[in-house]
Amino acid sequence: MTDLASADYFTDQSLAQNPFEYFAALREQNPVYREPHHNVVIVTGHPEVIEAFKNSESLSAVNAIGGPFPPLPFEPEGDDITAQINAHRHLFPIAEHIVVMDPPEHTMARSLLGRLLTPKRLKENEEYIWKLADAQIDEFIENGRCEFLGEYAKPFATLAITDLLGVPESERPEFRRILAAKSETPHTVGALDHTPVEVNPLAYLDEKFKGYLEERRRDPQNDILSGLATATYPDGSTPELMEVVRPATFLFGAGQETVTKLLSSALRMLGDRPEFEKMLREDRALIRPFMEESLRFDSPTKVDFRLARTNTTIGGVDIKAGTIVMLSLAGANRDPRKFENPNEFRLDRKNLHDHVAFGRGLHTCAGAPLARVEGHVTLNRLLDRMQDFKISEVSHGPTDNRTYTYEPSFLLRGLAELNIEFTAAP
Ligand code: HEM
Repeated sequence: MTDLASADYFTDQSLAQNPFEYFAALREQNPVYREPHHNVVIVTGHPEVIEAFKNSESLSAVNAIGGPFPPLPFEPEGDDITAQINAHRHLFPIAEHIVVMDPPEHTMARSLLGRLLTPKRLKENEEYIWKLADAQIDEFIENGRCEFLGEYAKPFATLAITDLLGVPESERPEFRRILAAKSETPHTVGALDHTPVEVNPLAYLDEKFKGYLEERRRDPQNDILSGLATATYPDGSTPELMEVVRPATFLFGAGQETVTKLLSSALRMLGDRPEFEKMLREDRALIRPFMEESLRFDSPTKVDFRLARTNTTIGGVDIKAGTIVMLSLAGANRDPRKFENPNEFRLDRKNLHDHVAFGRGLHTCAGAPLARVEGHVTLNRLLDRMQDFKISEVSHGPTDNRTYTYEPSFLLRGLAELNIEFTAAP
């Protein structure tokens, strides 16, 4: 166990394939543990992760997605590095996006997101998502097989957000094509394989939304983009154009890869454990607990980072200003002090909803309701339209000896591909 705790989480490829034993080994040492390679304090305990999420006074989100990469652009000095963070903020990855902001900028950006993600808009979006699920399934149902990520989950997650934001129908195929490219989106920027892409999807999205919103500011119409273009801050002031563009484009980065990973891990579980398929078919109300348990069991966002701006403590452990802290959501979600037999996938957990897959505190996932709807709709329509899910033995091996490859990312947990077979329902 001690050997495992001394592995390098950020470069060891075997840990990307199975991080859970590593997180357990760290937790056994201490739920708040300083790893030896990059001097990062890794938090793997459930109460400790929640404590850290809530301590936004002392823990800045400025390095939320990169952690120790790239290294801090300054040498921390003294017991309060707030001024240093503020002076160098623009040098951190995706500095312009909400997830790495601290108050008061974060509060302002979140208020704009609130204008976008209203219950009414989400409800309308849900109606589209039901139709979208069927349109995606239509594309491959006749084949009796599919590569689930490429043929369903990725285009589905992308198109759900194009609708949420009111992208004109005629332009959605282009969004789908460009965003299907393997890319460095905000949530995947920490991936270890930095494959260059033809078009930078974030730059593409910024340009697109800048165009839409400029036009709507000049000539408002009765549509979603106009609502966004004319949104004001709570004090009545009008945001700069890019301050509205950024929250819109960030939704793609935040909501595409994560949802793809959630849907594919849920489907893998159904394919590997036919008893769950049977249970869900018999009682569709079990789909909700099934998705919550999928979020806990295979948390798509494995880790998040914070930077201590002042001296503080987590779980009673002293954390000095300037320390990089890694909050392991995947670790916290398998903390046996919180979840009994945490490595078992169970639908009857009393505390199913206590997972931290969507984070907590100021930065709690703004898209959690959408992600849940996408999971709910997908499983319902797959169960309606297909029978006898099977994991492809040609691609993943026989039942007792499966091979699944996870993406080589320290940030996200998700299958690189998932090949399934099925019979179309009559
Ligand atoms: C299963 C799917 C998803 C998971 C596991 C997930 C996870 C997370 C987590 C852990 C955070 C907190 C980051 C932090 O504290 O540093 C976060 C933030 C965020 N997520 Fe998600 N997310 C998912 C889907 C989505 C979707 C579908 C959207 C929108 C369409 C979205 C939009 C956001 C935004 C805007 C933030 C930043 C909130 C802020 O900084 O205030 N996410 N997400």
